[in-house]
Amino acid sequence: MIPKSKIDEILEAARIEEVIGEFITLKKSGRSFKGLSPFSNERTPSFMVSPDKQIYKDFSSGKGGNVVSFIMELEHFSYPEALKWLANKYQVEIEEVELSSEQKEAESERESLYIVTRFAEEFFQNQLTETDEGKSIGLSYFKERGFTQETIKKFRVGYSPDSWNEFYDTAIKQGYKKEFLIKAGLIKESSKAEDQYYDGYKGRVIFPIHNLSGRPIGFGGRILVEDKKAPKYLNSPQSIIYDKSAVLYGLYFAKGEIIKKDFCYLVEGYTDVISFSQKGIENVVASSGTALTVAQIRLIKRYTSNITVLYDGDAAGIRASFRGIDMILEEGMNVKMVSFPEGEDPDSFSRKNDLEELEAYLSKNAFDFIVSKARILLGEAGNDPIKKASLVKEIVSSIALIPEAISRSVYIKECSSLLDIEEKVLINELNKIRRIRLNQQERNKSRLIDEERNEGEESAVEFKEIPEKLYDDVSVQERDILRIILSYADKTIRILADDGNELEVEVAPFMVHELIRDEMLFEDETCLKVLNLIIEYVDGENPILMGDFINNEDNEISKLAVDLLSSKYDLHEWWGERKILVEGEELKLKRAVEGSLYSYKSKRISKMIHENQEKLKEIDAEEKEEEVFEILRTQQMLDKIKASLSKPSGRIILS
Ligand code: UTP
Ligand code: MN
Repeated sequence: MIPKSKIDEILEAARIEEVIGEFITLKKSGRSFKGLSPFSNERTPSFMVSPDKQIYKDFSSGKGGNVVSFIMELEHFSYPEALKWLANKYQVEIEEVELSSEQKEAESERESLYIVTRFAEEFFQNQLTETDEGKSIGLSYFKERGFTQETIKKFRVGYSPDSWNEFYDTAIKQGYKKEFLIKAGLIKESSKAEDQYYDGYKGRVIFPIHNLSGRPIGFGGRILVEDKKAPKYLNSPQSIIYDKSAVLYGLYFAKGEIIKKDFCYLVEGYTDVISFSQKGIENVVASSGTALTVAQIRLIKRYTSNITVLYDGDAAGIRASFRGIDMILEEGMNVKMVSFPEGEDPDSFSRKNDLEELEAYLSKNAFDFIVSKARILLGEAGNDPIKKASLVKEIVSSIALIPEAISRSVYIKECSSLLDIEEKVLINELNKIRRIRLNQQERNKSRLIDEERNEGEESAVEFKEIPEKLYDDVSVQERDILRIILSYADKTIRILADDGNELEVEVAPFMVHELIRDEMLFEDETCLKVLNLIIEYVDGENPILMGDFINNEDNEISKLAVDLLSSKYDLHEWWGERKILVEGEELKLKRAVEGSLYSYKSKRISKMIHENQEKLKEIDAEEKEEEVFEILRTQQMLDKIKASLSKPSGRIILS
């Protein structure tokens, strides 16, 4: 653990232009430096470094950050690793920080576990390539499976000798602690004698599992002999560094390709990932050993919103995966599925075909999940009317999970013709399911609406379709607000308080208050993170320092902060000398504050109106009269709120 004061010292000493200059040639361009992006193969330089702000921005790949994130990105270092690299370059001495004894314990347990897993990975690799037993048993097994030398090296696979204590003895002799070897599952206590240990992976080939910075955190060991009693694969136990439910096998190697291709293949196991990768398809990960979890899905969502799930031939496996895929839909991601011929899995199939054939098969057999699910269930139900009824429920419940109304209605149409059931029947079913969920949301309805409701004035409801651009992605507005807060946090504007008096307020607390009061916290995950951090500062009455965001340990926060300060749009303004507010500027700032809040809020309201209208479309007006009225009432209130927003707010003095 590096203490905060040390981090500051390192950041102060480090010059981003010097560090980046070690890796690429930089040319001076005005106040900045320009060069060819180290993250892409560009010919015209679009990689900018600002010595003033100590940040970089790569306009070709969209990456950006401070000196630490540059090193992390380029060298795949973890945050502390990058800091240590910089400390070394700038001769800043890092001493251990005084942590609480619990923190110390957790931190040292984490580090100790990393150290033993790193040692084990090397040991197993060595055994595989340097020992006679490893070569004749482990290596020949991998060769038989078709793994190339390159693949063996890339995935750092290994071999654990068929001896009870070889790993254990070596580890202890080299000073590794028993306690951590046990916690990592590398050795196990004998059931026969106390304080007797044996090698956990004895006689198995090893597939190391890596975290996002490429460190080994766990292992899968495959048995090589026929043994009905022993499991085919042994996986590491849950530990402080290895959380099965939040790890995807292969993601460290795949993330670059996933971003480039903007989609990700999801397979079952180690061998599927490795075979695909060796064939040349590298955007592939596995949820090895566990059922798919939300944490794993969100991990993929960081890089793409498109997933293609690959299955082996048997139908039972496909059915079992339906629940997992429903979770992907719920996250608002697009899901396709490909199944392989009877008896084949992605591993075996990719070994039998060359890259071209494999790619052709994948693109020809990738079907939308909902449609595939309908087909599969339809095949199972045959002509049985009861089965068919429950099938309809099952399909529609998947459709109901999709957050986007437009996608839902497309699927309803498609399934209506596929299942030969009237659209109306499906829509009814869909409404039933969604109503349950909407009811829950109803309870959390924003205070803003409640207030308007209490005024209870009646007026005619007019329904106008809202154009999509008025309610789609609000992240542009969210970013605009953040940009203003971060840039002008402590500048003041004059507002009219409720008692009619003029009040001078700082930008950050004022804007934060406006958002909290109307319960309009951000939708975009990263924007929300930054806003929450701002709220913390405001609550603690601490000044907001840009550096705390740019240099934030959370990469997403730091990336967004840099983006906000270096968007092409206002490059000239932000990368130049910082302006001090002159009189005209103050007026401009008021307008910016008011304008950004207004466009954000009005977009959110438009979205609520749109969603409300969608509800009405899906409802059967004759049967559900009560609900129709409820929707109309909501519509009325939203219209009123919207109108009140359009009025000059009166809170900000414009002159
Ligand atoms: P397989 O049973 O196909 O494993 O499971 P394999 O090593 O390819 O065996 P053979 O050679 O076909 O008989 C496919 C994947 O499922 C995971 C592993 O990741 C494996 O790569 N798996 C399988 C487990 O995690 N545990 C198991 O017990 C079995
Ligand atoms: Mn297999």
